[in-house]
Amino acid sequence: MRLTDEEHRMLDGREGEPVRMAMEMLAALGDIYGAERMQPVASAHVAGLSLKSHGLAGMEWAEDLAASGARVRIPTTMNVIGVDRSRDLGFAPEWKDPQIRIAEAYEAMGCYGTSSCVPYYLGFLPRLGEHVAWSESSAIIFANSVLGARTNREGGPSALAAALTGRTPCYGFHLDEGRLATVAYRIETEIGTLSDFGALGAYVGKQLGTGTPAFCGMEHASPGIEQLVALGAALASSGSAAMFHMVGITPEAATLGQATGGRPCEERLFGKSELEAGYAQMTSGKQRKVDLVAIGCPHCSLNQIADIARLLAGRRVADGVTLWVHTNVAIKALARQLGFVDAIEQAGGLVTQDLCVVLSVPESLGFRTVATNSPKMAFYAPGGNGLPTWYGSVERCLDAAVTGAWS
Ligand code: F3S
Repeated sequence: MRLTDEEHRMLDGREGEPVRMAMEMLAALGDIYGAERMQPVASAHVAGLSLKSHGLAGMEWAEDLAASGARVRIPTTMNVIGVDRSRDLGFAPEWKDPQIRIAEAYEAMGCYGTSSCVPYYLGFLPRLGEHVAWSESSAIIFANSVLGARTNREGGPSALAAALTGRTPCYGFHLDEGRLATVAYRIETEIGTLSDFGALGAYVGKQLGTGTPAFCGMEHASPGIEQLVALGAALASSGSAAMFHMVGITPEAATLGQATGGRPCEERLFGKSELEAGYAQMTSGKQRKVDLVAIGCPHCSLNQIADIARLLAGRRVADGVTLWVHTNVAIKALARQLGFVDAIEQAGGLVTQDLCVVLSVPESLGFRTVATNSPKMAFYAPGGNGLPTWYGSVERCLDAAVTGAWS
């Protein structure tokens, strides 16, 4: 790779050992992926902070790195962790304590302790064409597709290396040609609810694997931000897409021709039967009895929390059922001030902060079956947490919370 004088200085260790290690990793990645140069980046989002990802050895590594003087040089947000730092949800100290130490080590390096997979809801909004280094698949695909920012699918270590150096290897989604659609999906059925968007993403992500889809025929659907978040999260978890285009809606797809760069591209149809297959793909529940209802994967927006509070008015979560509504500290604070948190708590639910159920150990609390409107949780919870899952709209999930059964 061609490095600038400043990048050579980092690689030579003249800016300290943590920066040298970070630049060495980035240069190796650049060589692997054929990058010709480094790209300065404006922000980083660091994932992989769960104890599940780090382990105890990783915790000590992060603490040593912070103690050795590693400091981020660009605005850097932190992804979710495996606990709610504001309250005791019953997780064992052997889980909770090291998990908090990991988060504190990253904060000591100068990362913002946002502990959330939706940094864009917190005001971290890269502009169109801005280069960033984000990890967390749902945040990456949102940044590329909806904001038009440019990031590869970074892992936690490479995002941290970018944060310490302000650089990332320039390849893939940083380049115009890496962002073009590879397959067009013509939507021929009504896609309306957030769970419909999740089912669409789950079906297409599984079918497509690593490609970049362009969706046509949705110009009149007027999807809101939350629907686009759900679509991206599903695409990125059931496959490994890092970007999608929605013709007439997302910023690099005013037309299908713009999305494909004028290249011919295969067109596939997505109709009612494909939508049903997307729903079926995410349902692994066998027993209709549900003991955990988890909403907010990715973390809920304020709008979603307001909707849940409204839908729970005059209702009560059934005995033996736990209702968790996941978000981050900032949105929770606002939701509390506006009365939504109290409304949910009066109905017997809890609004959590920081926590990702999938990256935590809900199974250790005795839960056996989860209901969710999250395609990502439906994808990971059965294998990762041993929790069979029912997937559907938020209304259906809340019905399960108040009746104790999926209907
Ligand atoms: Fe966020 Fe965890 Fe879901 S990172 S998208 S809450 S799996």
